[in-house]
This record gives sequence, structure tokens and C-alpha cells, in this order.
Amino acid sequence: MTDSRFIMAPSILAADFSILGKQIKATHKGGAQYLHIDVCDGVFVPSISFGMPVIETIRPITDQFFDVHLMIVNPENYVEEFARCGADGITFHLEAAKDPNAVIDLIHKNGKKAGISIKPGTEVEAVLPYLKSVELVLVMSVEPGFGGQKFMEESCARIKKIREYIDKNHLNVIVEVDGGVDRRTVKKVVNAGANAVVSGSAIFRKGSISRNVRKYFKAAESALAEK
Ligand code: DX5
Ligand code: ZN
Repeated sequence: MTDSRFIMAPSILAADFSILGKQIKATHKGGAQYLHIDVCDGVFVPSISFGMPVIETIRPITDQFFDVHLMIVNPENYVEEFARCGADGITFHLEAAKDPNAVIDLIHKNGKKAGISIKPGTEVEAVLPYLKSVELVLVMSVEPGFGGQKFMEESCARIKKIREYIDKNHLNVIVEVDGGVDRRTVKKVVNAGANAVVSGSAIFRKGSISRNVRKYFKAAESALAEK
């Protein structure tokens, strides 16, 4: 049984692109409600990943929620286009936006869920004022740009602060964690207050994709049961 309070978001950055459709279907089979789509522009982050054509191509093969993570400068210039090509939620970086409220409004005007993300070095307090306006906050637990990095343990304290603020203010915001989350760290982040988890390499790089996804649900459920 999957816990409806917990959301799994496999990151296709770690997928085998020669069989992307097949691998996406495997994540769905494992119960993943979201598909995490990392867009890197080579400016905000050092790497370049993929963009609209890929999203447009995979849109018809699944009804999973497309959780688009924009690691790009000037996100306001691209919101409309990502909305058009199939995003359900668009998350931008606080550090990349001149006017975060304007980006949030633009995402909402395009009929999509808005997310805001912070890098490990950005103080948590900087994102709190925006939480009343977004549907999701994405806490980076590695420096954004690359998959396969080590989870930064100090992220748990950051997640906890955000969760406390959300609960204290009775906000309805998903707390998603991204970077280096495996079946061991998933328990820690759930305990700290996350209810959505992104995972790339630990899902796609070894073993059965659907089974890997299921293992995250199991780990999250046992963490929630212990709470
Ligand atoms: C990093 C990306 C992540 C990454 C996660 O810039 O935002 O979504 O692909 O991959 P793993 O789970 O391998 O750290
Ligand atoms: Zn991401």
C-alpha cells in the first residue's frame, strides 16, 4: 500500500534516454505519482540537460504529474512555453528570479502549480515569505546541476524549519527534497517533515525501476509509522 501523504518523484535526469518511455512507465508501475524533470541551462548551473521537445514527446505516454524543476536564469521568460509543452507544476529557483512573486503569478496564470526552490547555501528564511503563495517548496540537498551526488545531512534541519513554518501558519504546501536521497536518507527527510522526494540515480541506475520506487514508499511508510 502506498501512503497518499507521501509523493515519489523519480528524476529522469538519471534515465536511459534510449528507452525513456519504457523507464517512465516502470516508475508509474512502481506507484510514482510525479515525474521530476530537471531543466539545466548551463548558466544557472554548469550543466545542460534537455528542454521542451523532450517534455512534449513524453507527455502523451503517461498521466503522471510533470514536476518541472527549472534550474535556469530568467525563468519568467520560459514559464508559458513549459506550461504549453506539458508541465503540471513549474518550480523555479529563488536565486534565479528578480521578482519571485511575479514568476509565481505567471505560473498560476498559466494554470499550473507553482514551486519555489532554494540551493543548499541559501538561508531558509529567504523562502518563507513566498510559502503562502506556492503549492510546493523544493529543498535542494545537493548543489543543483548533477545527479549522483551525496546527500547533505544539514538539509534535515532546513526541512524541519520549513515544515514548522508551514504547520504554524496552516499552509498547504508540499515539501519536496531533491538530491542524493536514497532508501536510507528518505527516512531522515520524512522525519524532518518532507512529504515528497526526488530520486534519480538510486531509481534508474541499478535494479528494477518499479521495485526501487516501491522501496521508497516502504521506507517512507515505516518512517511515518514511527513518528
Ligand atoms: C540535481 C537535480 C536532481 C537530481 C537528483 O540538480 O535537481 O533532481 O537529478 O538525482 P540524484 O537522486 O541522483 O541525486
Ligand atoms: Zn531536480
